[in-house]
Amino acid sequence: MRLATLLLIATSGVAFSQKKMKVDEIYGQYCSGCHGAKFEGGMGGSLVDGEWKHGSKDEDLYRSIAKGNPQLGMTPWEGVLSADQIRSLVIFLREKEKQTLTKGIEYPKPSPDKVTKTELHDYRIETVVDGGLKSPWAIAFLPDGSRLVTEKPGRLRLVDAKGVLDPEPVKGLPHVVEQGQGGLMEVAVHPDYKKNGWIYLGFADGEKGDKKCITAVVRGRIKDKEWTDQEWIYRPDPKFRSNAGVHFGTRFVFDKGYLYFPIGERGGMMEAQKLSSPVGKIFRLHDDGRVPKDNPFVKDKEAIPAIWSIGHRNPQGLTMDPRDGALYNTEHGPRGGDELNLVKPGSNYGWPVITYGMNYDGTPMVSITEKEGMEQPLTYWVPSIATCGLDCYTGEKFPKWKHDLLVGALAQQEVRRVRMKDKKVVSQEIILKNIGRVRDVTGAPDGFIYVILNGPDRIIRLVPAD
Ligand code: HEC
Repeated sequence: MRLATLLLIATSGVAFSQKKMKVDEIYGQYCSGCHGAKFEGGMGGSLVDGEWKHGSKDEDLYRSIAKGNPQLGMTPWEGVLSADQIRSLVIFLREKEKQTLTKGIEYPKPSPDKVTKTELHDYRIETVVDGGLKSPWAIAFLPDGSRLVTEKPGRLRLVDAKGVLDPEPVKGLPHVVEQGQGGLMEVAVHPDYKKNGWIYLGFADGEKGDKKCITAVVRGRIKDKEWTDQEWIYRPDPKFRSNAGVHFGTRFVFDKGYLYFPIGERGGMMEAQKLSSPVGKIFRLHDDGRVPKDNPFVKDKEAIPAIWSIGHRNPQGLTMDPRDGALYNTEHGPRGGDELNLVKPGSNYGWPVITYGMNYDGTPMVSITEKEGMEQPLTYWVPSIATCGLDCYTGEKFPKWKHDLLVGALAQQEVRRVRMKDKKVVSQEIILKNIGRVRDVTGAPDGFIYVILNGPDRIIRLVPAD
């Protein structure tokens, strides 16, 4: 009898884990009976009113679910549900809570004919390029007021100081593989561009006729609308190329003769933890491609010596605060796990061992969010905002925003202004929302804030209202 019961538990346990329940199914099966199909409460309280009797932190919710409160009718779920399932419920409840609490909040939709008000500055938007661009990804500013814009399918476009888009792309670019999220991505000009003319490109590199690719970095010059003098800055071993269409990373930061840039983990997950693989890393090189002698892993024979930090998923934002040299990155995590990080040499940002997220289909991922030897994000966003583009604003046109971080977001279609103090997040404000997926946001040398939007594809800028 006892044996039979044990067997039953054991077999049902196997069947259970094979089913890979999604979090909404877990909620529907185990929780909705008491907390309501819409989380509104019943025999148990509302889970979306922002009020938590037993503490409002993630770990409090986790404890409430795991340990329950049998005297008051809340089942302890530990043992019935696995740790990663309970963790996915916490993320799920956080998503629902946020959605409920922000429901009905209207954001003024920015448009050229009206002023958009924010806490510290009011602005108007101006359209810089409207139409003629396909999947624009990044923008760089030349000293004569003209701009370079990358298009994901592999074209580099010129926009003159008046905003006129040259119908002809720059000729003679390296071969770019357009594969899923990858293609021609980042463009930046060297800080001494006036003297040396160097332009840097980050793109999905591979052979013609083959979709296998990985992010690589070149520099070159543009003469008579043609790419010339090309030099490879970082080209991973071709053995790391893959067909995966995801997680290319790619943004550039120059500082004191160094170039910093990320490569996403290309779907390789645990590869992000391996020092012998270039995926899921942030790199530091001299701006001519040489490896700095004091990089953190140069003495490790197995390691790729250009690596600066490890354990990243898909970093598509990178910026430096010029006041203290703090390097920040934003990265797409799994669902509920988008992060802002302070990037320190030799540090491990934990992907995929720790994360605040779960799988996008709602199946649990991991139960742990912290581990010794792994860094914590400065903040993370639930629900995910799909971070893309990050800039420490240093212009003069919006003086009260100086040194705030501007965070772009694709899915939530927004630009957030993040105030930092002592390298910590003190507040956030959504300053632009609902006019398109934000691919990049950056302060220009003229102090205006440029925003690249995907769908509809265009470039706008924010100018002070007065
Ligand atoms: C049999 C009814 C019942 C079921 C089933 C149930 N709960 Fe509860 N739950 C309660 C009650 C009653 C409380 C209030 C207990 C208290 O006040 O301490 C509660 C409290 C909670 C709290 C703490 C709320 C707070 O204010 O701090 C959380 C979180 C929670 N439940 C989540 C869940 C989740 C997730 C599930 C499904 C895995 C679930 N509950 C299933 C009855 C239930």
